Amino acid sequence: MRKTIYNFSAGPSMLPESALQAASVACIDFKNTGMSLMTMSHRTKPVMEMFAETESLIRDLLAVPANFKVMFLGGGASLQFAMAPMNLLPQDGIADYTDTGEWGAKAAKEAKAFGKINIAGSSKEASYIFLPKELKQTADAVYLHLTSNNTVFGSQWKTLPTPVNANGYQVVDMSSDIFSRPIDWTRIGMIYAGAQKNAGPAGVTLVIVREDILGKSGRTIPSMLDYAVHIKAESMFNTPPVFPVYVMNETLKWLKNLGGVAAMQVINERKASKLYAEIDRNRMFCGTVKTEDRSIMNLVFIFDPKVVPAEAKEAKEKEFLAFCKARSMETLAGHRIVGGFRASIYNAMPEAGVDALITAMQDFAKQNGVG
Ligand SMILES: Cc1ncc(COP(=O)(O)O)c(C=O)c1O
Repeated sequence: MRKTIYNFSAGPSMLPESALQAASVACIDFKNTGMSLMTMSHRTKPVMEMFAETESLIRDLLAVPANFKVMFLGGGASLQFAMAPMNLLPQDGIADYTDTGEWGAKAAKEAKAFGKINIAGSSKEASYIFLPKELKQTADAVYLHLTSNNTVFGSQWKTLPTPVNANGYQVVDMSSDIFSRPIDWTRIGMIYAGAQKNAGPAGVTLVIVREDILGKSGRTIPSMLDYAVHIKAESMFNTPPVFPVYVMNETLKWLKNLGGVAAMQVINERKASKLYAEIDRNRMFCGTVKTEDRSIMNLVFIFDPKVVPAEAKEAKEKEFLAFCKARSMETLAGHRIVGGFRASIYNAMPEAGVDALITAMQDFAKQNGVG
């Protein structure tokens, strides 16, 4: 038995034990073929069946409408920052972007090469501690780009803003909260997500696109960057990341057995609300994000400056991180931009991990004479 570690990393993150076990078997012998999955061609029957099964799990779990296509691509969510506008935005077209954190800002920056970009809302000046609700959208914007969950700053849209253009659609970076709750597809044109939080290991990016929005960019797109090419080839235009897709497959089977995304949402909300309750109750800590915009995936908190003065902060943070590490809790340091702490409690973080962190916060406060 290896020791239990609660890994609060923002990504790559914890994966279900069953998926790790299945992956370890597949390393040596995939489905009794006698061959390691890593050595098998994507054109073989067992691999093609596994891809088809993974797609059907995704469609089933997220209730993906029939007019949407599912792709497994490489390049991470970061490639989608460029690939989405390259495929969807004509050079003389305009798209609205929301600057709600590090990743939304990067998406907007990349898109500028492919058309006009309007920043419809930004909370940058306020260090991204809230989500801008009053968006200044463009009447004829092709799409509205959103980051559903802001991994670095710990904010999350409870309901996604809708495009003002009746023909416009949402393009959503769901890298850090896909499969954590159901999706309302009504205004969505495309979603994308790097797998390495809720869906699997790094190496595969999930892209789901409404078919009718393609083919309208008016530009020549290199084959590897063209959604239509990948759709036609069923994600096998080049050698796809077979092993990460398999770990995704096993992760999604775990999610399905647990009751699907609606059941997962209940668990996620329970885990987050008990940890936020401790952040609010414990005089040593405080949250950084406006309450209504708090993420249930990435919980960002700092020492209360009234209790830990600025000059003691750095040393005390190191002390708390070591305190948690001694109790098998890893990767709790905040993002280098924000500092403090960030507990990423994605789908596969057991509730016991959240309970262990709460107890550590209480014991640390006591040890520091803060009742
Ligand atoms: C919301 C969000 N978008 C995009 C990215 C970038 O993903 P990748 O490293 O797969 O390119 C991340 C990575 O953490 C993220 O959290």
